[in-house]
Amino acid sequence: MKMARYNFLLASLLLSCLLWSAQVDGKEYMRCQLARELLQKYNINKTFLSNWICLIEHESNRDTKVVKRNPNGFASYGLFQISSKEWCRVSRKGGICDKKCEDFLDDNIDDDVQCAKRIFERVGFKNWPGWTASCRNTQNLPNLGLACNIQTV
Ligand SMILES: *[C@@H]1O[C@H](CO)[C@@H](O)[C@H](O)[C@H]1NC(C)=O
Repeated sequence: MKMARYNFLLASLLLSCLLWSAQVDGKEYMRCQLARELLQKYNINKTFLSNWICLIEHESNRDTKVVKRNPNGFASYGLFQISSKEWCRVSRKGGICDKKCEDFLDDNIDDDVQCAKRIFERVGFKNWPGWTASCRNTQNLPNLGLACNIQTV
């Protein structure tokens, strides 16, 4: 009886370690932490910061691990849901951003931001269905001044 309980505990411990290690690569951001990082570390233009936050929240819910498969056979990856249709390539570097799509899923968003900026320069926010559906109307944009004490105007 005692032994069985011990084994059960050991098995649960092992299982949680496994689950934890499978999760540890990605990252879920808090809204204000993300806003500050985009602003300070990545020099995102303040004018568009609330658009970026809205976009990310509707595309990936601020979770870098998200992959969404599309009926067209392509998929979108990471915080910005960057599509393998043209911007990145599955399994090896490629696409317009010259990135491997899977690399967008880890907790380092340097490459993601770089590619997202490129998409923005070429296409604008309308590239992202989440932005078009939910952020195009400026009334829907988060008030980062109020929520995060970041003055964007
Ligand atoms: C930010 O974007 C605005 C609007 O397009 C532009 O006028 C301004 O020069 C940009 N600021 C920087 C630092 O790029």
